[in-house]
Amino acid sequence: MGGFSFRNFTFMFIVAFLVWSSNVETCYARRGRHWRQTTTSSASLYKKKGKSHHHNNGSKSKPKHSSPPSMPTNPPRKGYDDVPSSTIFDVRSFGATGDGKTDDTKAFQAAWAAACKVEASTFVVPSQYVFLVGPISFSGPYCQHNIVFQLDGTIIAPVDAKSWGSGLMQWLEFTKLVGITVKGSGVIDGRGSVWWQDTPYDDPLDDELKLIIPLNKTSLRYPPIPLNSSLGGGKMPSIKPTALRFYGSFNVTVTGITIQNSQQCHLKFDNCIGVTVYNFTVSSPGDSPNTDGIHLQNSKDVLIRSSNIACGDDCVSIQTGCTNVYVHNINCGPGHGISIGSLGKDNTKACVSNITVKDVVMQNTMNGVRIKTWQGGSGSVQGVFFSNIQVSEVQLPIVIDQFYCDKSKCKNQTSAVALSGINFERIRGTYTVKPVHLACSDSMPCQDVTLTDIQLKPIQERYHMYDPYCWQTFGELYTPTLPPIDCLQVGKPSSNRIQGDHDQC
Ligand SMILES: *[C@@H]1O[C@H](CO)[C@@H](O)[C@H](O)[C@H]1NC(C)=O
Ligand SMILES: *[C@@H]1O[C@H](CO)[C@@H](O)[C@H](O)[C@H]1NC(C)=O
Ligand SMILES: *[C@@H]1O[C@H](CO)[C@@H](O)[C@H](O)[C@H]1NC(C)=O
Ligand SMILES: *[C@@H]1O[C@H](CO)[C@@H](O)[C@H](O)[C@H]1NC(C)=O
Ligand SMILES: *[C@@H]1O[C@H](CO)[C@@H](O)[C@H](O)[C@H]1NC(C)=O
Ligand SMILES: *[C@@H]1O[C@H](CO)[C@@H](O)[C@H](O)[C@H]1NC(C)=O
Ligand SMILES: *[C@@H]1O[C@H](CO)[C@@H](O)[C@H](O)[C@H]1NC(C)=O
Repeated sequence: MGGFSFRNFTFMFIVAFLVWSSNVETCYARRGRHWRQTTTSSASLYKKKGKSHHHNNGSKSKPKHSSPPSMPTNPPRKGYDDVPSSTIFDVRSFGATGDGKTDDTKAFQAAWAAACKVEASTFVVPSQYVFLVGPISFSGPYCQHNIVFQLDGTIIAPVDAKSWGSGLMQWLEFTKLVGITVKGSGVIDGRGSVWWQDTPYDDPLDDELKLIIPLNKTSLRYPPIPLNSSLGGGKMPSIKPTALRFYGSFNVTVTGITIQNSQQCHLKFDNCIGVTVYNFTVSSPGDSPNTDGIHLQNSKDVLIRSSNIACGDDCVSIQTGCTNVYVHNINCGPGHGISIGSLGKDNTKACVSNITVKDVVMQNTMNGVRIKTWQGGSGSVQGVFFSNIQVSEVQLPIVIDQFYCDKSKCKNQTSAVALSGINFERIRGTYTVKPVHLACSDSMPCQDVTLTDIQLKPIQERYHMYDPYCWQTFGELYTPTLPPIDCLQVGKPSSNRIQGDHDQC
């Protein structure tokens, strides 16, 4: 790959530059700034040695290169005049206190700057400590490959408005890395309750709520989250951050850790290729607004498995630009289920293909498996397999909604994201509102929708209940279903609109 050798060259160049002018931090955790290469130097190229596994207390390791005499003073115990003198970078060695009160952001930045320079280094957040860390970016692109972020302690977010400026899209961010693993038994705690209560009262949380009509009107669907004025200070910005976001990276792994009480989305992958998430936990209250578990966007070759997700919005949300996604062995609930979309908002084009979601247990979720698109979009969703989904007291187990609209009313439009090859198989259990809701576009009916082995029984008498519903949905019933679904139209739509060029993905 051309980019690869270029990256190697760039790395060697940067290291050479460093050897000559040590006070520059090539790659560093930053707050909203970008690395800029300011000067160049015709230094001879530094040849990387084999990895050494010294302890990182800097007591040994004489410099083997003509390195400059004045090294960075922080941290003092780090022997990185001999890059790479170690592969372990413990935030405590860089001045982090881990007392849960002192702002340890700078120590994390310093530890990252050091870890970044060493291939396959380990950035350590030790157990038994609580680190208060503000918004931070663990940024490539000049970092070495295959860094491990070993998280065994707890990282907590600041809860004062001042720390967030006018609002940020994320709290902890990893960008432009190749081979990044976040693992361990640690916890990332967004302490989001100070944000949740700021959600405007009439801000609709999920369009499907419109289908859910409680029989007892006096029981509020979403009781207001109690305000805790002893927490934080000042009003939080209206833009809420994602707790942990990966952007523009290759081969990302997240495992072992827990993310809880995120301000908004818990874990997000954006423009990533090769994502693996397993043995991962999300834990937030069911009424925390917009707290998606895992959010995927413009990412491909994604595997999410063996994880427990409890949150206030979609357990897994698959957005535009995603392909080759495999999600299995997930416990979801509370939450809004597993969704593709919403897609096509504001007349945008969306492309999603080859998505498999199987072996999922959903408990007390709003939706089970769902595809949601806005009117007026273009592009397509092709090749979706929802298989072996066990639902328990789920309001709407099977949903296609091509009229998604989070306002009270949306304009009717003819164009739509085209849906085809959507397979629902072995979806069993209990529902509380409507077993099947398949609402497709008039101008762009859903094609090749198959239903196989659907067994859904009504339970409870808390909501108004409905029969299965289909609109402009074409495909096949491969087995009898419970309840019987006679609204699916067999075969292909007759007046099928030809997909325009602008709809092609
Ligand atoms: C360096 O670390 C090793 C292992 O943790 C320890 O035995 C040694 O005493 C330390 N040396 C110094 C100078 O801190
Ligand atoms: C899952 O992660 C936890 C740490 O959170 C670890 O103790 C456990 O061994 C992991 N289990 C598997 C099967 O990897
Ligand atoms: C309706 O809900 C209220 C509050 O939860 C409860 O006190 C009341 O008994 C309920 N009424 C019925 C008919 O279930
Ligand atoms: C409010 O927050 C404080 C500080 O975290 C906590 O000690 C207290 O229990 C909270 N009160 C309520 C009602 O949640
Ligand atoms: C990602 O990992 C795969 C499998 O280990 C490897 O073949 C591929 O080269 C890696 N991608 C990059 C960009 O390093
Ligand atoms: C679909 O995605 C799976 C991974 O979920 C992958 O193994 C498979 O090769 C993909 N199929 C195509 C046709 O790309
Ligand atoms: C949009 O279409 C729906 C269904 O065909 C119809 O009931 C509704 O009145 C239309 N709304 C507008 C604003 O035209």
